Amino acid sequence: MDALQKKRKAAEAALAFIEPGTKLGVGTGSTVNCLIDLLPSVRSNIEAIVSSSRASTELLENEGFEVSTLNETGDLDLYIDGADESNKRLQLIKGGGGALTREKIVAGASRRFVCIVDDSKLVGMLGSFPLPLEVIPMAQSFVARRLLKMRAQPVWREGFVTDNGNHILDIHDLAIPNPLEMESRLNEIPGVVTVGIFARRPADVLLVAGDSGVREMRV
Ligand code: 5RP
Repeated sequence: MDALQKKRKAAEAALAFIEPGTKLGVGTGSTVNCLIDLLPSVRSNIEAIVSSSRASTELLENEGFEVSTLNETGDLDLYIDGADESNKRLQLIKGGGGALTREKIVAGASRRFVCIVDDSKLVGMLGSFPLPLEVIPMAQSFVARRLLKMRAQPVWREGFVTDNGNHILDIHDLAIPNPLEMESRLNEIPGVVTVGIFARRPADVLLVAGDSGVREMRV
């Protein structure tokens, strides 16, 4: 099974979590795109839908969904999103698609976070995937200098502007043995809007698709 087939399997498995009356948050990325393709099959169970990016909003609208804002819906029942990496405590790296800030907001506003991945995303320690930081443009060089002092290797995601008008620095070769501590430490640098570590708000359920099927993991 190739990666896209696994992503489809993980997305299919997530449909079971969408119960009647669900206020649903939808993430961003190729795995979530598979979910969006399938959402019309559970349309009658969805009371309201909130998206974490302009890209997902457009796809949802193409499927005929009216996308609400989080301000309109209040807290959500369920958030479904992909990830770039997960450890076995369901702490994540997210933001490969640059939507980390809205993803973190929607995840934080949701009672349950179901994360859908193919098995290549499950790692022993977070950090092989470059860790995205969303930064205020005027602080980009300052933040990069602070990261260099921490012996981190920031690389500007050139030409990329987030939905919030900010920039992304991807930190390469950063071992993250303590995701909670690293999330807080990086968040404290002035000018950092969001760190792509989801440890304070990890996933509640991880659906990992592999050759032998979809494994459900919980902490
Ligand atoms: C976007 C994200 C995505 O969830 C993450 O990059 C995984 O993407 P994909 O499903 O395409 O592998 O955090 O900001």
